[in-house]
Amino acid sequence: MSTDTSSVLKSEAPSHEIIIASSLAERQQCLDIRIEVFHREQKFPLETEIDDLEDQATHFLLRLIPSLTPIGTIRGFRVPNKSYYKLTRLAILKDYRKYRLGRELVLALHNWVMQDCHNHTEDTASENPRTTPSPTTVDIVTHSQLYIKPFYAKFGYEPEGDEFDEDGDPHQKMVLRLPV
Ligand SMILES: CC(C)(COP(=O)(O)OP(=O)(O)OC[C@H]1O[C@@H](n2cnc3c(N)ncnc32)[C@H](O)[C@@H]1OP(=O)(O)O)[C@@H](O)C(=O)NCCC(=O)NCCS
Repeated sequence: MSTDTSSVLKSEAPSHEIIIASSLAERQQCLDIRIEVFHREQKFPLETEIDDLEDQATHFLLRLIPSLTPIGTIRGFRVPNKSYYKLTRLAILKDYRKYRLGRELVLALHNWVMQDCHNHTEDTASENPRTTPSPTTVDIVTHSQLYIKPFYAKFGYEPEGDEFDEDGDPHQKMVLRLPV
């Protein structure tokens, strides 16, 4: 279902910013990008695009400045009752690929994970001051479409287990042990 296989980078990215989508309108802009990329372009079913993690996830919006035109998104969350995070729904509109903007979104998500992990450790330590060691790494898991595994590998994500079907397309679980 992928459409984009060349790895030649373009020269200069247009002016842009990455924000955490906090208003309903910004969240909708993230969703619109996902529908454009995953459903219209890659032909994944529309009904699988929204899952029950939408509300607990942190959504990042990449947009042009000064126009504020939305062009990319990524989503992250700490997996409930677990100590690892998930990176999901990374998408850049087709015309804006290969400017290293996908890379910027991943790095923004990593920074957020480090901060969130730190906050979580502090909260847990204040509840159990003597029993809570600080972690040195935190795992981030993503389910990569096969064509884009080399992109994730550039950040240190490593394949774990066998390929599997997700929403009708083969995927590979990839895990990054992020130092915190
Ligand atoms: C995946 C995606 C977000 C990458 O965004 P992008 O902005 O084009 O990627 P970048 O320009 O930041 O690329 C970063 C690095 O990855 C490499 N890369 C990008 N796309 C690649 C591809 N298809 N295959 C191999 N390498 C790739 C770039 O060459 C660059 O390498 P470098 O840092 O060594 O120079 C974009 O292709 C996309 O939106 N695809 C459709 C949605 C999708 O498949 N999402 C992933 C779901 S698992």
